Amino acid sequence: METLNVALGARAYPIHIGRGLLGRVDLLLPYLRYPKVAVVTDTTVAPLFLHNFAASLREAGIEVVEIILPDGEQFKNWKTLNTIFDVLLEQHCERSTTLIALGGGVVGDMTGFAAACYQRGIPFIQIPTTLLAQVDSSVGGKTAINHPHGKNMIGAFCQPRLVLIDTDNLNTLPDRELRSGLAEVIKYGLIRDLPFLDWLETHLERLLAREPEALAYAICRSCQNKADIVVADEHEQGERALLNIGHTFGHAIETGMGYGEWLHGEAVAAGTLMAAELSCQLGWISAVDVLRVETLFKRAGLPVHGPAMGGERYLELMQHDKKVQGGKLHLVLLERIGKAVVSQLAGQNEIFRAIVARSIHV
Ligand code: NAD
Ligand code: GLY
Repeated sequence: METLNVALGARAYPIHIGRGLLGRVDLLLPYLRYPKVAVVTDTTVAPLFLHNFAASLREAGIEVVEIILPDGEQFKNWKTLNTIFDVLLEQHCERSTTLIALGGGVVGDMTGFAAACYQRGIPFIQIPTTLLAQVDSSVGGKTAINHPHGKNMIGAFCQPRLVLIDTDNLNTLPDRELRSGLAEVIKYGLIRDLPFLDWLETHLERLLAREPEALAYAICRSCQNKADIVVADEHEQGERALLNIGHTFGHAIETGMGYGEWLHGEAVAAGTLMAAELSCQLGWISAVDVLRVETLFKRAGLPVHGPAMGGERYLELMQHDKKVQGGKLHLVLLERIGKAVVSQLAGQNEIFRAIVARSIHV
């Protein structure tokens, strides 16, 4: 087992990464204030992992409330969030009850938001079961639900007490979901970790083949990058925004196409190519650099063009981005491969051109 630390002072927490950790109740016990937990999961993950996990908690004397949400990005909303509160109240969960998110980023984001709000805040633990959640969403305390006008628009910062990553959980993950997670892994290489990008270019096939050592390495390295950024800028006043490369375009794709049509990582991949195209237009990176990015995403089986929504629709949806200030878009662009910056230098016409160049034409 590898352990990383998210060094946030009084709110610091460990990330344990290893095989078979879901059965290690001993790793959870020190983080429970009281022997009662509510495990939140979804209808796909529940039959895979919930029974054994809840049984091992009960064997250790923990009272377990089970909350099973409908599976899908389209359910990451107020209605589903409210079903968590309904069960917590019906089951007399108190401030000392710990919420446990067992699932992908959708379950993690909603459970974290519920933990931030229920009785003005209760502790929560992340047990991410998708690659995307293991390398990104379970770390850093961003929690949210979607609004019909925009992704993750309603939420809170709320750090978990512990992140427990069992890499064996990835064995059952569909290929399309694994590839979606790889988009966020590649992101770290592109924005700040060039040696990791080189490593990914060499070892991508091992990740696609789910070689345990390669996956463990990529997850640890991704979590280390994420932890470093979160510690430096927990509430996204600066550097943390770099994690959102491709996301302004990508969130527009997810919202515009209807939540769940494009997976988050797929939308981020196409969006990152739009950001790379724009960086090239600004003269920061070369066409060869753009091809390098495109080649890696293609090898990972990810889209390198967005859907045909029309440039105007993209721009309209992008106005709901959280990085808009005074009506002006701030985009994460590539100063060079391995170094991203937040910039407001691109004008509407240039952004429009990059979208058109990188979206499917009908
Ligand atoms: P997801 O939570 O929808 O999970 C993907 C699918 O995989 C679901 O059908 C789920 O039931 C299934 N699944 C989960 N674990 C499985 C397993 N081990 N075996 C088989 N199936 C499994 O999607 P995701 O990609 O994990 O997360 C995407 C969400 O994360 C988006 O809503 C995105 O906005 C959010 N996100 C948040 C942050 C953050 O910092 N909070 C960062 C990145 C993404
Ligand atoms: N996934 C972006 C962030 O955590 O800031």
